[in-house]
Amino acid sequence: MNTQTEQYISSLITRSKELEPAPFLKTISNEFPNAVVFSSSFSFEDQVITHLIASQQLPIQIFTLDTGRLFAETYSVWNSTLERYQIPIKAYYPNQDSLEPFVESNGPNAFYASVDLRKACCHIRKVEPLKRALAGNQIWITGLRSAHSAARQGLDKIEWDQGNGIIKYHPILDWTNEQVADFIAANNIPYNPLHDKGFVSIGCAPCTRAIQPGEDFRAGRWWWEDANKKECGLHEHK
Ligand code: ADX
Ligand code: SF4
Repeated sequence: MNTQTEQYISSLITRSKELEPAPFLKTISNEFPNAVVFSSSFSFEDQVITHLIASQQLPIQIFTLDTGRLFAETYSVWNSTLERYQIPIKAYYPNQDSLEPFVESNGPNAFYASVDLRKACCHIRKVEPLKRALAGNQIWITGLRSAHSAARQGLDKIEWDQGNGIIKYHPILDWTNEQVADFIAANNIPYNPLHDKGFVSIGCAPCTRAIQPGEDFRAGRWWWEDANKKECGLHEHK
């Protein structure tokens, strides 16, 4: 990171503390025309951010990483989001030259066989497409929330992503579950019906299950693995 970027990040940190997410999203989209992108997995939190972007008609490109293994419910809420907001959502797909030999060699459910194969699958289906989605942009907006995991509690709303060479902004990092649910209800925002069936953090269908009351929010992701290995590589936390 050069000195100019460092100074800009510290000014963003100050201003992100003074402004609510809606005006702050407007500010950054004005300061970086056509270089601010938002990654949506159509989760509860991502739907809040889509609403903030669409209702203000901000020039922020929304994109999703379609792994090919998403829940049917996720595809439905993607469609309802298009109908409701009438804005483009760019879809990124795994590179077929990587995916085809991977599935041929390891089978369609390789992720259950080892952590290495699971990470390889996440790399092909999410991490590499993410790199293409972020290329050439300056700010990457996400729906990360502190309440989702211990690793996410130490995050700042604005951070520098060394691996991707981009500034990350998490507008609703400090929102509570109630705040998110109230915002969704108050604005009648389409949401993934799995959230009403015990699913909190929703990823690919074969790698996500519902959680029991009291369980860690991310307990339903890659539930067969050790708790400390459960990130897919999209977000590298310090
Ligand atoms: S993950 O790292 O475990 O997969 P998680 O599901 O908690 O991530 O989502 C955190 C944020 O990562 C989302 O708010 C969204 O910004 C981004 N994200 C996760 N999965 C996707 C996806 N399939 N497409 C686009 N963005 C995603
Ligand atoms: Fe593959 Fe599961 Fe990762 Fe989805 S979450 S990319 S299916 S290992």
